[in-house]
Amino acid sequence: MMKSLATAQRKRLMRAARKAMKNAYAPYSRFKVGAALLTSKGKLFAGCNVENVSYGLTNCAERTAIFSAIAQAGPGLNIRAIAVVNSRDVPCSPCGACRQVIYEFGPEATVLFKGLKGWKEASIADLLPEGFRF
Ligand code: THU
Repeated sequence: MMKSLATAQRKRLMRAARKAMKNAYAPYSRFKVGAALLTSKGKLFAGCNVENVSYGLTNCAERTAIFSAIAQAGPGLNIRAIAVVNSRDVPCSPCGACRQVIYEFGPEATVLFKGLKGWKEASIADLLPEGFRF
């Protein structure tokens, strides 16, 4: 069973994700994305997408937030929830690579994103069935 988020936590995450989105470096796609994660200890970390002229080197907002959390607070990261927003307010769920990275640090994480039928809260296990682990 997925642990659903309290309204206050959801608001906090969405606000932080929108703030981080403003820092996005997205001159190629012009699609700015922001992500914010809540750790099991109640700390918040955010990130944005960072593109590159060699397009494949682009880092998504979700992974920026996760890598930033580890850079700032160390490797014991446990993601309770992560929210994703974008500048066009269109459906945008985490890509496959980000799902695997979210799963590494939060196998029970709740993911908030805009789906095809509006805002959605899904468990990472549902978004990434049989995620890889050693
Ligand atoms: N992007 C993200 O940052 N997160 C997502 O969940 C979907 C896609 C970025 C990558 C790229 O900079 C731009 O959006 C267009 O694909």
